[in-house]
Amino acid sequence: MSVRFTFDIHARDGTARNGTITTAHGSVATPAFMPVGTAATVKAMLPEQVRATGADVVLGNVYHLMLRPGAERIARLGGLHHFMDWPHTILTDSGGFQVMSLASMRKIDEQGVTFASHIDGSKHVLTPERSMEIQALLGSDIQMQLDECVSLPNERPAIEKAMHLSLRWAERSKAAFGGKPGQAIFAIVQGGDQADLRVQSARALVDMDFPGYAVGGLAVGEPQDVMLRMLDIVAPELPPERPRYLMGVGTPDDLLEAVARGIDMFDCVMPTRAGRHGLCYTRFGKINLKNARHADDPRPLDADGDCPVASRYSRAYLHHLTRSNEILGMVLNTWINLGYYQRLMQGARRAIAESRYADYMAETKAGWAAGDI
Ligand code: GUN
Repeated sequence: MSVRFTFDIHARDGTARNGTITTAHGSVATPAFMPVGTAATVKAMLPEQVRATGADVVLGNVYHLMLRPGAERIARLGGLHHFMDWPHTILTDSGGFQVMSLASMRKIDEQGVTFASHIDGSKHVLTPERSMEIQALLGSDIQMQLDECVSLPNERPAIEKAMHLSLRWAERSKAAFGGKPGQAIFAIVQGGDQADLRVQSARALVDMDFPGYAVGGLAVGEPQDVMLRMLDIVAPELPPERPRYLMGVGTPDDLLEAVARGIDMFDCVMPTRAGRHGLCYTRFGKINLKNARHADDPRPLDADGDCPVASRYSRAYLHHLTRSNEILGMVLNTWINLGYYQRLMQGARRAIAESRYADYMAETKAGWAAGDI
């Protein structure tokens, strides 16, 4: 029996939705947060630890994996799920965004993007066709079109040009997508902070009929209210029965606000990266474990929560590990953060199912505002 890629919505509360995505590698409860596993690892975490935080899906990156260890090699070794021993769903980003933020000597033309590797300076070309070929070699369940994302603020002509190029690359990506049953390709809406360009991008992509739609080009330098305004404009343009993914976002507050606007999926390096630097996200807001006030504090970070890490180790111990740059400090802080992001989404799913999402949002924000007691 071959599994089809599906998205079922179980409940709606205002524009917020609670659903399930099914792929060849299992089901994903939405709204979902996807930990970032750039180089075939969610940094500092074993796959079973990532799973234990509640994650149904992790993200991989074409850009990193094509450079090292190479997509053909991963395919020979049995595909990305087997390679990293993550048997659940994997979404891969197409590479364009990472080329723009990491590679040197980038050149974009109609054909694709030419760049020099940030690892060894070697020259590479990424076209929509090659990006889809790499994602097929990796065996990813949810594959992204190649797009061009510009940072904000930016000139309207540059935003418009990138948006139109992304539309043409959407066509080519879709034509090249060799998806097996249970896999899907998502389009990416661009258009920067320009409302009319966002609408134009969304409508053109909807005409192409993708199984899912991402909103890209946000959290790239604009204030949160601009990002939320773009979501208010784009979400109603997208087919209600298809999943919506806000790329590269964000803070816990961004997630709550975007869920309220009908977003179903997120990814962000924030919980993992911040964890490696001693910043922890909790019910009481963001806590900087480097701070000297924790040095003599025997209390756990969150004694009454259901995080096995936050309820177990003392603040003094986490402070010590963080200050000493110990590997275990990175592991524990990453675990705390991924656990918090997952619980935030679990809470959102439950609240939507019980038609109390606005209250959930208000209570959660009040907890952050009350701070660390
Ligand atoms: N990650 C965060 N933003 C983006 C975007 O606009 N496009 C792609 N491909 N990945 C992203």
